[in-house]
Amino acid sequence: MGNVLAGKVMTHRVDSYRIVVIGTGYVGLTAGACFSHLGHHVVCVDVDEAKLEKLRSCDIAIHEPQLANKVRAGLTDGSLSFVVDAKDAVEQADFVYLCLPTPSKSDGQADLSYVFNAALALKASLRSGTTVVIKSTVPPGTTLKLEEVIGLSDVGVVFNPEFLREGTAVADFLNPDRIVIGASDNAVADRVAALHQNIDAPILITDPTSAETGKYAANAFLATKLSFVNSIAAVCEHVNADIEDVMQSLGYDKRIGSGFLKPGPGWGGSCLPKDSKALLAVAEAAGYSFSLLRNVLAVNDEQFRRIVDKVAHRIPLQGACVALLGLAFKAGTNDLRSSPAIAIAKLLISAGAHVQAWDPVVSADAVAEVMVEAESPLAVVATEAESHSTKVESPLMASMASTMSVASNAYEACENASALLIATEWEEFRSLDMERVADAMQDKHIIDARNLLDANDWKRYGFTYTCVGRPCVA
Ligand code: UGA
Repeated sequence: MGNVLAGKVMTHRVDSYRIVVIGTGYVGLTAGACFSHLGHHVVCVDVDEAKLEKLRSCDIAIHEPQLANKVRAGLTDGSLSFVVDAKDAVEQADFVYLCLPTPSKSDGQADLSYVFNAALALKASLRSGTTVVIKSTVPPGTTLKLEEVIGLSDVGVVFNPEFLREGTAVADFLNPDRIVIGASDNAVADRVAALHQNIDAPILITDPTSAETGKYAANAFLATKLSFVNSIAAVCEHVNADIEDVMQSLGYDKRIGSGFLKPGPGWGGSCLPKDSKALLAVAEAAGYSFSLLRNVLAVNDEQFRRIVDKVAHRIPLQGACVALLGLAFKAGTNDLRSSPAIAIAKLLISAGAHVQAWDPVVSADAVAEVMVEAESPLAVVATEAESHSTKVESPLMASMASTMSVASNAYEACENASALLIATEWEEFRSLDMERVADAMQDKHIIDARNLLDANDWKRYGFTYTCVGRPCVA
């Protein structure tokens, strides 16, 4: 049984530790900025000098509320700095946090090379008493393996997972539901617990493998919940029930909980898909056929197709122009990784449609990059005349008749479109000028994959309205 330090006592006295954070992605940067906010002395390390130069002037590429304030405060009071060479900082460090990517390999397993290579590169600089903390999401057994690879009996290796949602990462770091510490040595675990003084949350201390499995299980459970919700939404469509009311009735049950019950275009992001696939790969490699999780993933792919079918139910896709509002995987972030909007755009294009997209915080360059990275057979062309720098075409894709264009605003995206698809739940889509949208579009069909808009309002402007798990307004 794990040891829970429940109802943590707030000391208000802050012991200041020296922390090195390796990796300045959204987890590393958030952890670094928040630890400096909590009174620790933090050095953030990255291989990308150009990125660090920007961070030193508080120029942050990710869209993360409160993060810039925390970084600025840390830079100003000297408790936060950014360097390429970790050696000096590591020699002085009490804790070295590894916040490096663990991307999916082609078989779904996590690629651990960034984590192991960084740890090996730092090994010679680690001093006696330093604790190495893995914050990256890693498969069961990784912490013990790293402990072995580092092989220093006076250096502890611990797993301390992040539970940060993009868009609320700073708030989640400072007010977490729980802090989990996976360590094979209790004294080392206590040291990591002390680092979180003045954070009011239960601290669960367990062995590293249980902590690693718990992190994967948490994301896979959230994914399961959402695939279940989207499946019930499909049932609702068949029996003429309203998913919003169905989920409200479930949410009152404390055993189920009211969070994570919104139906949508499918779930995405940098973590849920990657971690669910990695857990599936871990289970399969260990000899357990995790059919539930395999189907959770399959239901999500099906959900993308179900949204496309909703569009196809209104208009023939071949040769059609579809306006796509929202590209980020959820509101509050500019992250396009495993975004349902992108998956759906690809399906629309492969069915012969032209997609005109717009998102309040996603740039045309970012869209082009994600399309090229995925080696998708799409041409991404930023069409807005005023944005000359954003035209990006892959040579492979240039010959394709179907294209995806990124407009400079919502109304431009709607120009001559036959259907409008809402894929990300940005609040501002609720206040679109309906008359302007109606004037811009060729045919008036709305497919609201986030159940965001008011159906009756749009109907007054001549639109048909289709959403997820609720009766349609014809
Ligand atoms: C997720 C987890 O929620 C965090 O706890 C975890 O720390 C993080 O991954 C991680 O491992 O780093 P995040 O990827 O930011 O956080 O995204 P979520 O807010 O969980 O949303 C994931 C997807 O589910 C999005 O596509 C979102 O639109 C969708 N979603 C979420 C719904 O469709 N309905 C909901 O009710 C909630």
